[in-house]
Amino acid sequence: MKCRKCGGKAVINMRQHKLALCKEHFLIWLPEQTQRFIEKYHMFGYQDRILVAVSGGKDSLALWDILHHLGYQADGLYIGLGINQENGYSLKSQEFAEKFAIKNNLKLIVVDVAEIAGATIPDAAALTLRGKGKPCSICGLTKRHIMNRVAYQGQYDVLVTGHNLDDEAAALFGNTLNWAVGYLARQSPVLEEITGGLARKAKPFFRFYERETAAYALLQGIDYIYQECPHATGAKSIYYKEQLNQLEADRPGAKLSFYLSFLRAKESGLFAHQDPATQANLNSCQTCGQPTSAPEQCAFCRTWDRVRGRQTITA
Ligand code: AMP
Ligand code: FES
Ligand code: ZN
Ligand code: ZN
Repeated sequence: MKCRKCGGKAVINMRQHKLALCKEHFLIWLPEQTQRFIEKYHMFGYQDRILVAVSGGKDSLALWDILHHLGYQADGLYIGLGINQENGYSLKSQEFAEKFAIKNNLKLIVVDVAEIAGATIPDAAALTLRGKGKPCSICGLTKRHIMNRVAYQGQYDVLVTGHNLDDEAAALFGNTLNWAVGYLARQSPVLEEITGGLARKAKPFFRFYERETAAYALLQGIDYIYQECPHATGAKSIYYKEQLNQLEADRPGAKLSFYLSFLRAKESGLFAHQDPATQANLNSCQTCGQPTSAPEQCAFCRTWDRVRGRQTITA
């Protein structure tokens, strides 16, 4: 396979674009496309202060690398989840994020869940779920809350995450199977700020396949954590990704067109009246003040109050 730009040896073939590229041209192409998507979807500009949520994995570190090289002002945020039982997953991923920041002379904010909320994610899950179920849902709501809080309090203009097309298509697949209209209405590459505490959010990698962000990180020589979170095994999102990859193998471009057609349908008004966050019926959480659709406390404060209550009982 030959590079379309120079005829040299291609390292990647992107069948959905009928495009094969060599290392040199792929490392130019991916940042150029990122810039194109940032502009096309009005994500942010050069004057904006950007907060990149970095997990130590390939997507978020590749994203931070590209934003930095494109000349954006991007600080990082790493959230320490305390998932260290089996293989030190959180400690290792923190090390990758910190080394990247030092090497590139970038600012990394580190927030430790146990320090600010009183327990690690696995301990909190054990206390609230009593051994049943995975910690992923408390983990997800905690990460979202902390990302939002740091972005809002630090007066960042936008919070960006490394979600790629495989992540977004899998979420869309799950939401569609359940016709979860509230989630479908909120699923978007850009979410506008909600006054009173919800930061603006963007996903600049949402049109790249996972294999492309992985190839970028490898070819660019970025050191990242290869391991997945130990709790990810058996997750529904992984099953959906596998199903979509089967479809993609038979019909190159199917994943991308599934997601882009959804965006077009949304633009034409589908789900326009379904977004709970724009229905002006958000309240301020009585404990932390973040906007919430719950009547009193937000899900984060409710859950963590319950965790701390159980800690007192078991102490
Ligand atoms: P995931 O939900 O693990 O697939 O991660 C999706 C995105 O969330 C990543 O690309 C990061 O931008 C962000 N993220 C995940 N875990 C963390 C973490 N521990 N700290 C900061 N950001 C994270
Ligand atoms: Fe949160 Fe796995 S449980 S990253
Ligand atoms: Zn080339
Ligand atoms: Zn709250």
